[in-house]
Amino acid sequence: MYFKDKIIWITGASSGIGAELAKQLAILEAKLILTARNESALLTVQKNCLQYTACCTILPADVCSADTIEVLVQHAIAAYGNIDIVIHSAGITQRSLAINTDMSVYRQLMEVNFFAPAAITKYLLPHFKEKNSGHIVVIGSMAGLMGFPMRTGYAAAKHAVKGFFETLQVEHTIPGLYITIVSPGRIKTPISLSALTANGSPHNKMDAGQLNGIPVVVCAQKIMKGIEQKRKHIIIARGERILYWLWWYCPPLYYRIARKKGMR
Ligand SMILES: NC(=O)c1ccc[n+]([C@@H]2O[C@H](COP(=O)([O-])OP(=O)(O)OC[C@H]3O[C@@H](n4cnc5c(N)ncnc54)[C@H](OP(=O)(O)O)[C@@H]3O)[C@@H](O)[C@H]2O)c1
Repeated sequence: MYFKDKIIWITGASSGIGAELAKQLAILEAKLILTARNESALLTVQKNCLQYTACCTILPADVCSADTIEVLVQHAIAAYGNIDIVIHSAGITQRSLAINTDMSVYRQLMEVNFFAPAAITKYLLPHFKEKNSGHIVVIGSMAGLMGFPMRTGYAAAKHAVKGFFETLQVEHTIPGLYITIVSPGRIKTPISLSALTANGSPHNKMDAGQLNGIPVVVCAQKIMKGIEQKRKHIIIARGERILYWLWWYCPPLYYRIARKKGMR
């Protein structure tokens, strides 16, 4: 019942975690606004959602277009005249060693994973302040809590995400605003296909780690439970949870295992 009639804007809704959240939230009759670049993929997700909910709007956009983000946010608010929850799921990962990686790849990873959710949030804050309520959910990563090979830029961007949204939680200028940071380990989605390689071209491969990842349905269910419980931080991981534990309590073992694991 919690999500019924809630107005929820999901970025990265054309695929993976964002698309699965859209479907499960539609089943609970939320009112959805879906954003991503691929309009035809968004239309497919929308069609699926409209089987369950009466309200599902698409707002195709590149969240990295800094000049148009403010307008994008205004359009999202205008869709139903309000936003209750925003879920920042748009993201792109990396598969390249630091020594080979072009600086342009780092900039691209920072744009989509960090600057986009930061800018959207900044332009949404006045809306949340006006009504003294709202919920911001950001999909970070276990790579935002510790290092992981082949992901220097991705891990840097996700660490920045954690820093930004955790600080927003601490600033607490809007009493009715909740912030949930989600840190998934490997989830079974096509994310490794679009991962940026050293020169910015897509990796185009489903990695074994991705294929054997946590089912996306389970990931979406855990995110929704966390939102409902207004959790500040959710970790959704199997092996990475143990790695993180080692990072805290047995760093030498963490470095040995993470080096090997991350290369696969
Ligand atoms: N899968 C995992 O193992 C995993 C683990 C930890 C964290 N995460 C995080 O979870 C989030 C979702 O990832 P996923 O696994 O669902 O990957 P995915 O299936 O590749 O989905 C990524 C989504 O981001 C959108 N996107 C990428 N660049 C964009 C841009 N410039 N503007 C607008 N939308 C853009 C894509 O849509 P278009 O291409 O249509 O724009 C797509 O809808 C990401 O933030 C990712 O970092 C995933």
